[in-house]
Amino acid sequence: MTSTGSRTPPPRPMVQESAVTQLEARNVLQAFHRALRAIRLYPRENTMVKAALVALDGAVVSLIASTGQCDIRSVGDYVFVCGIRLRIQLDTYAAISHVAGRFRHAGIGGILVLSAPDGAAWVTLISALLAPTPGLQSDERRAHITAQLERENVSDFKIEPAVDELADLEEGSSQERTRQTFMQSLSATRQLMTDVRMGRTPALRQAKRAVQGIVDQIMIDDTSLIGMTTLRDFDEYTFVHSVNVCILAVALGRRIGLSKLQLLDLGLAALLHDIGKSRIPIEILNKRGQLSEDEFRVLQGHTWHGVLALFALSGSTARAWRSMTVAYEHHLRLDRSGYPRTVRSRELSLFSRIVSIVDGFDAATSTRVYQPNPWSPADVIRGMRDNPRLGLDPVLVRAFTGLMGIYPIGTVVLLDSHEIALVVAASREGQPPSRPQIRLLFDERGNPSYEATVLDLTEKDSSGQHLRTIVRTEDADRLGIQVSDYLT
Ligand SMILES: [Fe+2]
Ligand SMILES: [Fe+2]
Repeated sequence: MTSTGSRTPPPRPMVQESAVTQLEARNVLQAFHRALRAIRLYPRENTMVKAALVALDGAVVSLIASTGQCDIRSVGDYVFVCGIRLRIQLDTYAAISHVAGRFRHAGIGGILVLSAPDGAAWVTLISALLAPTPGLQSDERRAHITAQLERENVSDFKIEPAVDELADLEEGSSQERTRQTFMQSLSATRQLMTDVRMGRTPALRQAKRAVQGIVDQIMIDDTSLIGMTTLRDFDEYTFVHSVNVCILAVALGRRIGLSKLQLLDLGLAALLHDIGKSRIPIEILNKRGQLSEDEFRVLQGHTWHGVLALFALSGSTARAWRSMTVAYEHHLRLDRSGYPRTVRSRELSLFSRIVSIVDGFDAATSTRVYQPNPWSPADVIRGMRDNPRLGLDPVLVRAFTGLMGIYPIGTVVLLDSHEIALVVAASREGQPPSRPQIRLLFDERGNPSYEATVLDLTEKDSSGQHLRTIVRTEDADRLGIQVSDYLT
């Protein structure tokens, strides 16, 4: 695990390895993303647009000054600036996914900036990218954009064709595969839920493939995928949440010994558990502050909306039935004190009981519009164990604690050595849960530690004393630590 920039060979011109830093690449991408958003939302004369264009110009000119070129490319769900693949972080994730999505929509693979364009040229380019082109094939859409630039005498850009998915990317490390699995699942979920929201009938094929990828990887090693669940995104909360719930549910299912076939069913049900949210107004989903009683009732409707959406989606096979049950029951609680109201007594299905636990865990540990200060993973685990009113299955909670440890992956801890560390994996089989595997973040004097070595807290010195012991958990935000930096 390392916090330095990850690099994968890009489709075309490579600049010198050391020429562009991750930070420069990120500046250009974010400036481009802000300009895209501003031009989509406001007229050209608006101060937001002007400010965004000045920032974009600044970022591009400084890149051209240091490297002699600037290009933004996208392959699959990855974005490259001058050959540097943007690392997926909380603050870059929205930009990466929006720019990749926009390129895909426009049928292009990249933009090569030939000279430093002025603001008007950028507006022409971005407006062409944003223009709807219904009924056109990918190649035709690209031709459309090129023609638009020619018509307006803009010659600062070269528009490149889309590159085929991830085939061009080098077969990477296992961490690389983990990222791909996560990103592909995310894009399948985004597609599916957007289709439902738009009233289109989506295909389940991609989602099933995504679940298959998650199950395959969890069967080999669950640590790295669980690490990915620490990646949070404010704007795309529902999609990221669905993928996280799927990963955690499959990992928990494996822990209690479900077969691979059962894990596939469970994973799909978990991925689709909140599909009903696609039918809830965005204003309610993203409302800041408390929901009114009426609004809360509407939100609760995502459970039965989910059942209806799944009926339309997958008919009445046994697998579809299991997904519907989870969509319906995941907020119900064991004693039926949750929602939706049920008249007759019923026992929650095993899949619903699993999803209730991992859903609650991911929701409580995520930053959302109405939850700016999420709980620490360790506190959530403790609450699940000690608070019977949450209506969770105690046996499964114990299994989940076994999976995550009492200090789940992503928890920042203070050690008795006065060092600060990050939990990167649960304790090894048979070892106490209070002794997970960690990576040091700060030494005893508070200096950042760049050592990426994973340490095991069960290690002892020659006198049989533990070398390090966790004293307490720490607030990552307060210490300025971006956990996903170290885990994704
Ligand atoms: Fe839900
Ligand atoms: Fe949920």
